Amino acid sequence: MPAYQELSMYCFSGTGNALAAGKWIAARAVAAGTGARLTRIDRLARAEVPAPATGRALLGFLYATHGFCVPWLMLRLIVRLPRRAGRAVDAFLVNTRGGTKFGPVHLPGLSGVALLLPLVILWLKGYRVVGTRPVDLPSNWMQLHPPFGESTAAAIAARQWVAVERFADRLLAGGRAWHGWWTLPVDLALLPIAAGYLPFGRFGLAKLQIASAACDGCGVCARLCPAAAIRMDRDRPYWTFDCEACMRCLSVCPLQAVQSSHSYLAVLILSFGPLAGLAHAAAAALGRLWAPLGGRLGFWAVFYPLAMLWMWLSYDLLARALRVRWLNHLFTYTSLTRYCRRYLAPGIRTRDLRPPRDPDAGAAASTEDPRPRGQAPAA
Ligand SMILES: Cc1cc2nc3c(=O)[nH]c(=O)nc-3n(C[C@H](O)[C@H](O)[C@H](O)COP(=O)(O)O)c2cc1C
Ligand code: SF4
Ligand code: SF4
Repeated sequence: MPAYQELSMYCFSGTGNALAAGKWIAARAVAAGTGARLTRIDRLARAEVPAPATGRALLGFLYATHGFCVPWLMLRLIVRLPRRAGRAVDAFLVNTRGGTKFGPVHLPGLSGVALLLPLVILWLKGYRVVGTRPVDLPSNWMQLHPPFGESTAAAIAARQWVAVERFADRLLAGGRAWHGWWTLPVDLALLPIAAGYLPFGRFGLAKLQIASAACDGCGVCARLCPAAAIRMDRDRPYWTFDCEACMRCLSVCPLQAVQSSHSYLAVLILSFGPLAGLAHAAAAALGRLWAPLGGRLGFWAVFYPLAMLWMWLSYDLLARALRVRWLNHLFTYTSLTRYCRRYLAPGIRTRDLRPPRDPDAGAAASTEDPRPRGQAPAA
């Protein structure tokens, strides 16, 4: 008899890596006689937070790693999970990271607190975490570097697919599987960056996305955004602060019109200098009123809202400027993503990322082969 009657997985995936890992696990569950559901949490409303499962159910949370942390949408789901009273429910965590490959050498990504933080929250809520697994699938952070070509991406995925299947088999048999903890000292050292990413990186990265003059206003990016972060404004996309910087809109635009503006980033960084000077002066003035505000506390209390306000205002100006063709070309051709290919996980297509009409429509119902292309079935 299988150790669990049911496997329920919740997934936040920008470009399909976490979704692919969920499909691989679901396929193993089905093979082992365990019912499996894979729910993408795109636009999941508060009311849809999973109800406490029975003792014979296994819960899984799969998500990309963003800024050495959990994406905000997944963190919010885990924080809002109902508290368990009585018998603990078993759960596992899978964070997909940015893996790389140079020749024959595969290099892992870095989790930071992407496993630790949800683990602590789940434990505090009365869930029993029985497994953790970082999965090093091709990095999708095309704002930083060009994505891998198809064959390299498939080779990275094939290697990880085997590891994920072993992990799934162990858990589904009722075992424990703890992976990803030997880098804990490094991961903890990254804590300040992870802490800075949520308030700064996440919001700042949203405000780098622009649409080039090639955009025809089709609205695909807005429809497929998992965070409903794109507003169509007079037939052009406008990125709001809800963006998770998941890279999906860059990858699904049929005209490759979505770019990250690196020249606008340079302008932002340069403008933070005078803003910091202003915040220092304001903190000094505040310190004369109340001494504790004279130092770092006063600086950040002034700098953070000022920086956010400036980002919002300057992005609004940028969005207007982009309607002028030559200005649009200027920002588009100085964007590094203009020269990058796009990335979707091997085996994942744009249609797999459509907003889930039926939130339960997942791998268990899918007739598609979830394996990375060209791989032999698991023994
Ligand atoms: C904004 C952003 C931040 C990222 N931060 C990290 C990170 O801290 N560590 C890491 O290993 N990979 C990082 N990556 C790479 C992704 O986590 C990785 O490619 C992941 O597998 C993508 O999964 P998805 O396709 O399901 O969205 C980052 C990617 C983006 C877009
Ligand atoms: S998907 Fe591309 S072409 Fe369509 S609205 Fe978005 S940016 Fe424009
Ligand atoms: S706006 Fe683009 S990058 Fe941001 S959450 Fe939506 S799809 Fe992802």
